[in-house]
Amino acid sequence: MINLSHKTTLKKLQKMKGHEKIVMITAYDALFASIFDPYVDMILVGDSLNMSFSGKRDTLSATIDQMIYHTQAVCSKTEKSFVLFDMPFGTYSDKASALKNAVRVYQETGADAIKLEGGKEKAEVIRHLSDNAIAVFGHIGLKPQSVRSEGGYSIKGKSEQEKQEIIENALALEKAGAAALIIEGVKPDVAEAVTERVSIPTIGIGAGVECDGQVLVWSDMLGFFEEFMPKFVKQYLDGGKLVQEAVKQYAAEVKSGTFPDPSHTY
Ligand code: KIV
Repeated sequence: MINLSHKTTLKKLQKMKGHEKIVMITAYDALFASIFDPYVDMILVGDSLNMSFSGKRDTLSATIDQMIYHTQAVCSKTEKSFVLFDMPFGTYSDKASALKNAVRVYQETGADAIKLEGGKEKAEVIRHLSDNAIAVFGHIGLKPQSVRSEGGYSIKGKSEQEKQEIIENALALEKAGAAALIIEGVKPDVAEAVTERVSIPTIGIGAGVECDGQVLVWSDMLGFFEEFMPKFVKQYLDGGKLVQEAVKQYAAEVKSGTFPDPSHTY
């Protein structure tokens, strides 16, 4: 039985807007979820796992089965954080398939909400999902699932017209029933304007400090994934190097016969 006084719920997140910053991090497995859980408000099982965990060049080939598998693992060791499920590419193209897949997510995992990428063109899908008791987070600005159709990743909201479009998208998603918004890769004034205009929480990634919260991909911020390091990532640990040093020492000790020593032997 979940202790709801301890657990971060949608209501708690919504009350945090304007009072307390929301902290979100990604996790893809039980081990890291349990390490992060005491210190964050939300854990995102992001389709970014397709790049950092599965070694693919973008997020597009992640499947709903893979995302469900990883979310089950995360939920098994998450006690207090709100768990957000990232709907993979192609799983919410229309109302019927979006609802079918989202119901699967709720039935097969403990995720608290789902997230999908898109602006006002996704308003009808979001309305349909929220009318059917699914909590939905919108993802606007830079949308990683559009990388192939747009021919790369680019910062959004540079022109006044783009800024207005992003604000309109945010308002349309809020009106459709979105519970919160992820804003990625936009100029900070755009995220600030959206955050002021909507009454739902905004969580930024590469969107400046004025959002209601921040999210980072764990393997970027802990220094495990260095192939592609956007400017907005702050690296809090040199994890890859630390782990390599430890494994190097283990290998040297096995080769030299100094591990196991008597203290590690029955
Ligand atoms: O997949 C992911 O990790 C995400 C974040 C970049 C917000 O969507």
